[in-house]
Amino acid sequence: MKIISCPHELKEYLKNIKNSIGFIPTMGALHEGHISLIKKAKEQNETVVVSIFLNPTQFLKGEDLDKYPKKDEADKKICSISGVDVLFFPQPSDMYGADEVSLLAPKVRGYVLEGQSRPGHFNGVLTVVMKLLNIVNPTRAYFGKKDAQQLNLISLMVKQLFMDVEIVPVDTVREKDGLALSSRNAYLGKEERVEALKVSSSLRLSSAMVSRGVLDAKEIKSAMREILAPLEIFYVEILDRDFNQLERVEIGNSVILVEVKVGTTRLLDNIWL
Ligand code: PAJ
Repeated sequence: MKIISCPHELKEYLKNIKNSIGFIPTMGALHEGHISLIKKAKEQNETVVVSIFLNPTQFLKGEDLDKYPKKDEADKKICSISGVDVLFFPQPSDMYGADEVSLLAPKVRGYVLEGQSRPGHFNGVLTVVMKLLNIVNPTRAYFGKKDAQQLNLISLMVKQLFMDVEIVPVDTVREKDGLALSSRNAYLGKEERVEALKVSSSLRLSSAMVSRGVLDAKEIKSAMREILAPLEIFYVEILDRDFNQLERVEIGNSVILVEVKVGTTRLLDNIWL
């Protein structure tokens, strides 16, 4: 596995690759969720590139940038064992200059849900993903459905800016008990870990209600809120796949999203129905 930290060097290196390139952007502290993206990319492409970059611009003031888990050596091993061809490992100074051109998230879709409690977060996400896609110029780029709003906004950016890359959504990987894997799960204490299970339980309940024929969004959301009640709830929403509000679940076109705080840790999860 080749490890490159300079964007220009990576661009030069990848110029010689004529076959398909699959790309997985990450912020490190890799887990099975990230590995499933890598596996999918390996199935579909000749060359697989992973980036590990803890992007400062997507963290707001006072957020967890400084204590975000860092596992550089373990991450390198995981990439190498998973068959990654090139690992891009830049520093902030490789990615950002002093006076930057900026990319803004859309005023509506970028400022609801996670964007409402973290205003400006998606400006940073879109900016770094745009830079990374320009550096790697992949055939396909892989994103987890777990971060559904991020996936939606990146797909929108690629479409609206006429970018030449296929965005491939990948299913959420969970622990056996239902907890969606996340680098932030490392912050959870023992009791918080148990509390966190309320998130996936509430989503399972929503799916069971829909299977029973209950499609009314209000009814489903209030049943979910009952399960989540002891936690600080940022939102429970039922949207269509373009992120418009739904009054009734449309099977095959709905996503039910939850974001809560457990202790000091934000957890988000969703289910696509
Ligand atoms: P990060 O949180 O490291 O996630 C990298 C990718 O892994 C994202 O596409 C995310 O949706 C996916 N992912 C995380 N947990 C997952 C799980 N349990 N199952 C499946 N996929 C999962 O998301 C980011 O980094 C950053 O915002 C980034 C896109 C890299 C821009 O900085």
